[in-house]
Amino acid sequence: MRRKVTKAIFPVAGLGTRFLPATKSIPKEIMTLVDRPLIQYAIDEARAAGIKEFIFVTSRGKGALEDYFDINPTLEASLRRSGKDDLLEILKNTNMESGAIAYIRQHKALGLGHAVWCARRLIANEPFAVILPDDVIAAETPVLQQMVEAYEDTGGAMVAAMEVPKDKASAYGVLDVAEDMGALVRVKGMVEKPKPGEAPSNLAVIGRYILTPKVLQNISKVRTGAGGEIQLTDAIAEEIVEGRDVFGYRFRGQRFDCGSKAGFLQATVAFALARDDLRDEFIDYIEELLALRKAAQ
Ligand code: UTP
Repeated sequence: MRRKVTKAIFPVAGLGTRFLPATKSIPKEIMTLVDRPLIQYAIDEARAAGIKEFIFVTSRGKGALEDYFDINPTLEASLRRSGKDDLLEILKNTNMESGAIAYIRQHKALGLGHAVWCARRLIANEPFAVILPDDVIAAETPVLQQMVEAYEDTGGAMVAAMEVPKDKASAYGVLDVAEDMGALVRVKGMVEKPKPGEAPSNLAVIGRYILTPKVLQNISKVRTGAGGEIQLTDAIAEEIVEGRDVFGYRFRGQRFDCGSKAGFLQATVAFALARDDLRDEFIDYIEELLALRKAAQ
């Protein structure tokens, strides 16, 4: 019987420079799509996939994240007094059981691989998931759940994969495909941020992973890679060199790159349009804007 994936690492120690000046004092993961912080989407997805232990790799200035998952007795008492049960219900999702959440510091932003490695003692000898909260994926079945289900058959290491235009591939880790089985692909190599024209395929790695403790050991061995950072993809690619299975999983869902301003705005619009309480008013506003734009042309 394969061991269940019950632990997830959330690397949130990056500097978030693309959102300066906001990220000077606000962690990127606390920024909201409509009214829910990015991190809430990531936690909900993890919970749906059966994750019980949530490990955050943080850095200086991320205190707001710890507070977000704490109870707020004053606020709750005030809402209770004024009979705002609907808001109390919404807050429930932000609370974590004592002992279910752990925070580890990455003292220097040495890269995603290094951030994951910082959590190695909490992972011990189990498979684990990694979720990058700035990749937000709208999906009928939450993407990590799709992957955990696929992993039950495959074992090995698995990364979420998405087709990207060839000319965009150098922004991603890219899969070198050995065997294409539809939703699953067997991978024979991975290149982090390939030079233009050198991407081995148009299948890019997106921020969801299921990994084995062996990958953590590989991270100690890999040197700094693309961008001078210790790359997670290099440590996963090492698995292939050592003859172990690595799979890409073509997930069903729409991914938004909320680490970039354009992606964040697109997600904001898409999530607002998906809300019954906002849709109509928002569509009216957009139509008005478009009409004004047309009239001005
Ligand atoms: P990004 O490449 O988006 O970097 O990291 P960033 O620092 O968050 O943002 P920019 O590029 O400066 O705007 C992808 C994920 O990896 C985490 C980030 O927090 C984010 O979730 N990360 C990255 C770390 O935890 N530590 C690192 O050293 C690097």
